[in-house]
Amino acid sequence: MSTPSTSIESTLVENRVFEPTEATVKAARISGMDAYNALCAEAEDDFEGFWVRRARETLTWHKPFTKTLDESNAPFFKWFEDGELNASYNCLDRHMGTPVENKTAIIFEADGGEVTKVTYKELLGKVSQFANALKARGVKKGDRVVIYMPMTIEGVVAMQACARIGATHSVVFGGFSAKALQERIQDAGAVAVITANYQLRGGKELPLKAIVDEGIAMGGCECIKDVIVFQRTPTAVNMVAGRDSFMHDVMAGQSTDCPAEMVGAEHPLFVLYTSGSTGKPKGVQHSTGGYLLWASLTMQWTFDLQDKDIFWCTADIGWITGHTYVAYGPLAAGATQIVFEGVPTYPNAGRFWQMIERHKCTIFYTAPTAIRSLIKAAEGDEKVHPARSDLSSLRILGSVGEPINPEAWMWYYKHVGGERCPIVDTFWQTETGGHMISPLPGATPLVPGSCTLPLPGITAAIVDEAGMDVPNGSGGILVVKRPWPSMIRTIWGDPERFKKSYFPEELKGYYLAGDGAVRSADRGYFRITGRIDDVLNVSGHRMGTMEIESALVGKTDLVAEAAVVGRPDDLTGEAIVAFVVLKRSRPTGDEAKAIAKVLRDWVGKEIGPIAKPKDIRFGDNLPKTRSGKIMRRLLRSIAKGEAITQDTSTLENPAILDQLSENN
Ligand code: WT7
Repeated sequence: MSTPSTSIESTLVENRVFEPTEATVKAARISGMDAYNALCAEAEDDFEGFWVRRARETLTWHKPFTKTLDESNAPFFKWFEDGELNASYNCLDRHMGTPVENKTAIIFEADGGEVTKVTYKELLGKVSQFANALKARGVKKGDRVVIYMPMTIEGVVAMQACARIGATHSVVFGGFSAKALQERIQDAGAVAVITANYQLRGGKELPLKAIVDEGIAMGGCECIKDVIVFQRTPTAVNMVAGRDSFMHDVMAGQSTDCPAEMVGAEHPLFVLYTSGSTGKPKGVQHSTGGYLLWASLTMQWTFDLQDKDIFWCTADIGWITGHTYVAYGPLAAGATQIVFEGVPTYPNAGRFWQMIERHKCTIFYTAPTAIRSLIKAAEGDEKVHPARSDLSSLRILGSVGEPINPEAWMWYYKHVGGERCPIVDTFWQTETGGHMISPLPGATPLVPGSCTLPLPGITAAIVDEAGMDVPNGSGGILVVKRPWPSMIRTIWGDPERFKKSYFPEELKGYYLAGDGAVRSADRGYFRITGRIDDVLNVSGHRMGTMEIESALVGKTDLVAEAAVVGRPDDLTGEAIVAFVVLKRSRPTGDEAKAIAKVLRDWVGKEIGPIAKPKDIRFGDNLPKTRSGKIMRRLLRSIAKGEAITQDTSTLENPAILDQLSENN
């Protein structure tokens, strides 16, 4: 195999098609394109009725809903509003007294390889105990709770326990910095933080509790009354008297019975922060009823979940994928799932393949970045090649988070899936709550690099800047024309920004995804061409360029001005490139290297290691128009090392382009 290239251009001439086998079609929940088309037609003919039927079949309602979709205050749509239910009840209690009760809910594999399993019944007991503990500490329905935890059973327990008592959780990824954590605690007005003393990743013990302390000490977090610490490792941490307690202590003596608090369908189940095109992250607010419906239904549709499946989504609970396809979807659907604490490269880059073999995983869902890095590792060392593991248990593969280049797709298909497993390339976003455009494994013919067709009920389309449909073959803006149950409800505390970001007036009330896309001329298949706003996708992690810029200019003793752009990268999809003007003269050579390191570390502290620029270039100035606007498209060309072909006549200072193009 040659080194994979991320050139998505090659999909323009992609003409390989992989049809599902007859046996796959026959056994699937949505069996064949006729079944898919029938569901789409049902949604088209009777949109509300379609969702009513799905909501009744899929979830257990404490109080049945009588209203389906309320569009009276668009774009603040409401679904199933007068219905009442509880998400944790639907993930756990509902399975009691059924064969799922004693089924394994979670197979947990620790960083070091130890395996722990819990059944649905055991998980319900733990969640209930912890829910009782939260209540005993005064956490109540409607409160916000920040969760800053490693990938563990306890992480899932924390989320489920919040849901159980009607508290709205906000999970912050364990790789975010103290500052990022503090901002999220403040914005959410959280009453408690649930964390761990340390997290284990790749054989290393990394602090979490110390970062929580540091974040809270930065100020403005007086809302926090409790910090609850899961003791992941024996290492001691500082505990603040009157504020901090251990998870095992607060759970001890609590009853394993905790009746779930019923909430209205629109009750905010969680707020999850994500990057947008301004400096401040957005708290994406999700509902309970509509969100859970789609989490559960897409488990059945996209992953064709069957009773015997062993499902594994490798995403961290700190991202939306880990919410929908670890903490909620698999449990609501009664699946057995693998939860993995560690990293794909420890103790070696064959870890994923070895784990698939060990646990007889049948459905495997990961990100293109992971696949690309494992391809590289397998090519360099035959011992970590998937061929070394028995992957015959696999039946479905999934991809998520960024466009998958056809080369990586083919490798995944061949070497992991044994040319037997359909790949579901699932396009969706934090805001969409669940899958939007994806093949169905027992129906859709696959084309490498294409997420194929919208799921039934999802009215995805491609339009121009005036909201008019564009013909297949021409690119445009990806929108969703009609609301869907698991859509974002608002941005926490900022409804105006919600409207402006997702429902711009010129787009006729359509939901704006923020991605460009094109449909193929022959099949009408969607291919995502990338973000159309100032958002980067680095290793499947979403980063706002403005967020990184404001971190850089926050280094006030050094930085005068900064502009951040993305550059295509073979491994990470996109890489972060920062152009920086210092307050002192422009550094070169070793000095430039030293300052670049200082700035990288600074960004790591301000946001988190994932936001560190790969490349930092210094200039006396930035390319600006005469009105002072930074010309980012020129910076993007420079970052790529391209010759500048664009019109530069409006530039105030054309000479700056040569300086920034120099590799310093
Ligand atoms: C952005 C959303 C969805 C969970 C993980 C990321 C990109 C996501 C795909 C895909 C091409 C994709 C888009 C999207 N994206 N999945 N299958 N093909 N691009 O969630 O952090 O909210 O990022 O990820 O650009 O807008 P997120």
